[in-house]
Amino acid sequence: MDTHFSLLPGGTWTLGDLTVSRFGYGAMQLAGPWVMGPPADRDGAIAVLRAAVELGITHIDTSDAYGPRVTNELIREALSPYPSQVHIVTKVGAQRDEQGGWPTARQPDQLRRQVDDNLESLGLDVLDLVNLRLGTADGPHTESLAEAFETLVDLQRQGVIRHLGVSNATGEQVAEAQSIAPIVSVQNMYNLAHRSDDDLIDRLAAGGVAYVPFFPLGGFSPLQSSALSGVASRLGTSPMSVALSWLLQRSPNILLIPGTSSVAHLRENFEGAALSLSDDDLTELDTIGRN
Ligand SMILES: NC(=O)c1ccc[n+]([C@@H]2O[C@H](COP(=O)([O-])OP(=O)(O)OC[C@H]3O[C@@H](n4cnc5c(N)ncnc54)[C@H](OP(=O)(O)O)[C@@H]3O)[C@@H](O)[C@H]2O)c1
Repeated sequence: MDTHFSLLPGGTWTLGDLTVSRFGYGAMQLAGPWVMGPPADRDGAIAVLRAAVELGITHIDTSDAYGPRVTNELIREALSPYPSQVHIVTKVGAQRDEQGGWPTARQPDQLRRQVDDNLESLGLDVLDLVNLRLGTADGPHTESLAEAFETLVDLQRQGVIRHLGVSNATGEQVAEAQSIAPIVSVQNMYNLAHRSDDDLIDRLAAGGVAYVPFFPLGGFSPLQSSALSGVASRLGTSPMSVALSWLLQRSPNILLIPGTSSVAHLRENFEGAALSLSDDDLTELDTIGRN
């Protein structure tokens, strides 16, 4: 596939020994409504994944729980055999119930099964990066991750996982994981309006660990703020572009995984994220979520 690495907004980052574009793609919302079942537009979903790789995006975030299986199977159909530069990042620790809920599933046997399921649905022999998803859909909880994380470390030793990360984690859980084995990423909720991880981001940056904000555009409730709209209209761009370029400028260890089911939005976000925000823009954006 044709790629355009020189135009990557934010350049690249190295996850362990894997170089990825800082502008990645989050595949969760490619499944049906509320991340259950197949998408209304299957061909459109395949087109988005192929367009992402054609743009030079080499970091795709997913989970076998999306659909469930649906998103991973779309990724496999769209991209397999995978170009060597493309890295699929997945997560384990939750499963789906019939109501579309996300019950936790972090017992050792459940985690091993989820790793096997991801390998099978993605059509891979080794998973490049697996995040242990903690807490619940309501957010992080303060509980020890030791038994679950050690299960993944064991699978890493067996050679089916290359690198480890944690998701939906407190700062203490990040430190607990790091006391057991190296992690290359933390994937938590963070965007212009939700900045409770500011200190954690700086700590991870100092240690060379990636911070991957989920819901970078607000997720199921798109970001809305007069400061954001004001900066966007002054710069003649979209609020989404400002939100993404702000994240890229916030810290060099931030990797983007914005989701979209539209090739037009993917291209708009990719081009818009390269925007350079001035000190005045940053000061104005800093007011969001703080008053
Ligand atoms: N670790 C975890 O617990 C966890 C939790 C949630 C998500 N995630 C990961 O984070 C990724 C990102 O989250 P997300 O996709 O839910 O939220 P998001 O990236 O914050 O927002 C995606 C939403 O924004 C819309 N959008 C994107 N670009 C747009 C544009 N240019 N104009 C207007 N609307 C636009 C999309 O709609 P359209 O489809 O219409 O473009 C979609 O509804 C997921 O794909 C998933 O991989 C992880």
